[in-house]
Amino acid sequence: MAESMKGLKRTYRCGELTAANVGETVTVMGWVQKQRNKGGIIFLDLRDRAGILQVIFEESDCGAENFEKASKLRSEFVVAVVGKVTKREGAVNENLATGEIEVRAESVRILSEAETPPFPVEADSKTKEELRLKYRYLDLRRPDIQKNLILRSKITTSIRSFMAGEGFLEIETPILCKSTPEGARDYLVPSRVHPGNFYALPQSPQIFKQLLMCSGYDRYFQIAKCFRDEDLRADRQPEFTQMDMEMSFVDVDDVIDATERMVQKVCEDVIGLKVQLPIKRMTWNEAMNRFGSDKPDTRFGMELVDVSEVVKGCEFGVFTSALEAGGSVRGINVKGQAEMPRKKIDALVEFAKGYGAKGLAYLSVQPDGSYKSSFAKFMTEEQLKALVEAMDGQKGDLLLFAADKLKVVWSVLGALRCEVARQLDLIDNDKFDFLWVTEFPLLEWSEEENRFVAMHHPFTMPMDEDLQFLDSDPGKVRAKAYDIVLNGVELGGGSVRIFQSDVQEKMFEVLGFTKEQAYDRFGFLLNAFKYGVPPHAGLAIGLDRFVMLLVKADNIREVIAFPKVKDASCLMTDAPNVVGDIQLKELCIQLSEVQQAEE
Ligand code: AMO
Ligand code: AMP
Repeated sequence: MAESMKGLKRTYRCGELTAANVGETVTVMGWVQKQRNKGGIIFLDLRDRAGILQVIFEESDCGAENFEKASKLRSEFVVAVVGKVTKREGAVNENLATGEIEVRAESVRILSEAETPPFPVEADSKTKEELRLKYRYLDLRRPDIQKNLILRSKITTSIRSFMAGEGFLEIETPILCKSTPEGARDYLVPSRVHPGNFYALPQSPQIFKQLLMCSGYDRYFQIAKCFRDEDLRADRQPEFTQMDMEMSFVDVDDVIDATERMVQKVCEDVIGLKVQLPIKRMTWNEAMNRFGSDKPDTRFGMELVDVSEVVKGCEFGVFTSALEAGGSVRGINVKGQAEMPRKKIDALVEFAKGYGAKGLAYLSVQPDGSYKSSFAKFMTEEQLKALVEAMDGQKGDLLLFAADKLKVVWSVLGALRCEVARQLDLIDNDKFDFLWVTEFPLLEWSEEENRFVAMHHPFTMPMDEDLQFLDSDPGKVRAKAYDIVLNGVELGGGSVRIFQSDVQEKMFEVLGFTKEQAYDRFGFLLNAFKYGVPPHAGLAIGLDRFVMLLVKADNIREVIAFPKVKDASCLMTDAPNVVGDIQLKELCIQLSEVQQAEE
């Protein structure tokens, strides 16, 4: 039977007690981690969010009734213990923060009993994630997840304190919105009052923060919930959080400067990491050419080498046909891996195919200087020698090549270098390698839609010197857009915004909107620009990813209290779910037969 805590007041959290408290009588409350009954003495590990504390019950201290109660305790019971802090009689437990002390119980109350949990509540759980997520409230008791969420809270506290100090105002923007295009599908919410009409959940507060600049708020920030209906991956959730900000009367360098000082402070505050400023910068073009990625992992080398010129005119059809079609041949040098077994190379070829490669060509420089290669027979000795030289190939190296359209070559080799580095354990996991990638292309040609789409979003300003090409050669225009990358993960991104309505109208035109369509969707923004708008720029950091990288988790689910799984459902609440006919009727929604059949 559950007892009340009447008359008791917790004096410490379990994990807060240290040798400095020896001699004190304390009241602690928490969950039973483990109870061991050794006959005349009962050992109890009591857990709360601060840590684990050892409590000792002996009848001579606590009397028969309390001893009897202690003998009934099982895992996850919630109890209150009053007792005296003493130095540990047994060996000091180095693994516990409270390892030097124990509490000798004088009384215990059982505040709540617990059924046997479906899995043990412990750090480094081996339990399958599906089960953990179904019982997330139990999973969240585990010390490693608690550590992540505590750190997450410290990060937002640190961000708020930094931003306030820099004169940023925290302002909330709506969740029930009109669609804001950030390139993903919107989540829609039907309106009851306006049948047939829908709100969109914001993909980001983009337009609102720009309007706040129009309204003179000068510096805005928000820890903002964003919603994107896109395919989920390890670093993507359908709802996620951004540290979103916008500044007036600034250009690229001002946003970069404010952001990197914020990142520096957060890293120092929460994990004691000293980030050297300024953070390195690299143009998008350089990032793609050297690393095949706009979010390069710069913790290791294995950079891409363009060998198109070297292999031009050889007899290897794979290379020459790619070049003739306007493509490129590039390679990476996997140092010291000439002996990589054929099976492993084949696995890499399969991996590359997953990124659009038709194949991978390889050449290994054997210890005796001879070559083993999938294409050597199509090349002369000189051509091979020149190729190996261009790749800086030494005895013992394995060279891997992709030939295709440049975009495909980048994507294949960019992914391959990371995969090879992971397999060969070339990545220093203690490193935090920050990087700015700048001068992104403004537009990207979409084969699917047969039109240009904005690479960042349609409000991004072209670089001053490229503005002239917006009409004549839009694909060539670079943007005042920048991403901050950490260890090969896109941490955040932003841009200087278009603030002239004529340039914004032109941008919509290039994106294939008619003037009417542009005004229909974004009229409020275009109109706002007619009433005095300051030049402005901003950025958003993916908070979940930031936490994930700082705690070295490999999935953002580990740093989100109630995450969704791959198919965007919540295993604990079973959202999304079927709703009743009455609710649907009120919303004037009728399900199609196909959907009804699926239910
Ligand atoms: P962007 O679309 O680049 O920019 O998003 C900014 C950052 O948000 C994070 N992020 C995500 N995190 C988890 N799950 C997702 N599905 C997800 N999608 C994005 C990433 C990303 O770098 N309005 C602009 C910012 C601006 O221009 O100021 C924007 O949203 O870390
Ligand atoms: P194939 O002519 O398709 O038998 O390919 C000959 C060799 O070239 C094989 O080792 C393939 O893996 C490789 N290969 C095929 N296509 C490409 C490509 N686009 N880039 C690099 N290597 C390729």
